[in-house]
Amino acid sequence: MSKSLARKNGVILALDVTDEKTALTVSREVAEAVDAIKIGYPLVLGTGLSIAEKLSRIAPVIADFKVADIPNTDRLICEHVFDAGCDAVIVQGFTGPDSLTECVKTANEYQKKVFVVAEMSHPGGDHFFTDSVSKEIAAMAKKSGAFGIVAPATRPERVKELRGVIGSGLKIISPGVGAQGGSAADTIKAGADWVIVGRSIYGSKNPREEAEKVKREIEKYI
Ligand code: XMP
Repeated sequence: MSKSLARKNGVILALDVTDEKTALTVSREVAEAVDAIKIGYPLVLGTGLSIAEKLSRIAPVIADFKVADIPNTDRLICEHVFDAGCDAVIVQGFTGPDSLTECVKTANEYQKKVFVVAEMSHPGGDHFFTDSVSKEIAAMAKKSGAFGIVAPATRPERVKELRGVIGSGLKIISPGVGAQGGSAADTIKAGADWVIVGRSIYGSKNPREEAEKVKREIEKYI
């Protein structure tokens, strides 16, 4: 039985290492300080999807595949993700309501979760995801029954605005803290439920210490 995401620390590890040994070592080291492990193409292409089941014994796993296809293909992808032991999947919203609804329907059948990308965290992330597009995607995520959205820790003011769109019913996970320059405390204060942190944790000499540092930075705001 895979673990289910619940907020204790407010930190999600983005595990973009590419070999199994490092993935398992880092995950075990930081397990007490994080609430979930986010995996994506770098790790899954490097090790195979079976890594998800191994990690799911350590912490809930979020599959960041940014699923973006027609409904049938989306469903097939989501089924693989959930069969592999992941607790949640990240999908794109720009593909439209029918694609998103199919992902949410599949997640519900598995009693799992869907997060919808509302706006990306890198400098070019707001080029196409303009203010109004992001808000429209967030509103669609709410309507679809998704568990939450992804919003950029590099733009806390956008996190705040998107929180205004979705209200308190949906969760917000926010990448962009650390290596991309975002502040964990500012992001949580703006309305995120979790910050997602990758390189500044797994790339450090002491991942556990780094994860604890982020946890301590936000503990009074969660
Ligand atoms: P770093 O190393 O920058 O890692 O702390 C960030 C992680 O988050 C992913 N990422 C995103 N995922 N929407 C997403 O769904 C985004 O806007 C976004 N920005 C970054 C990135 O791939 C890495 O795993």
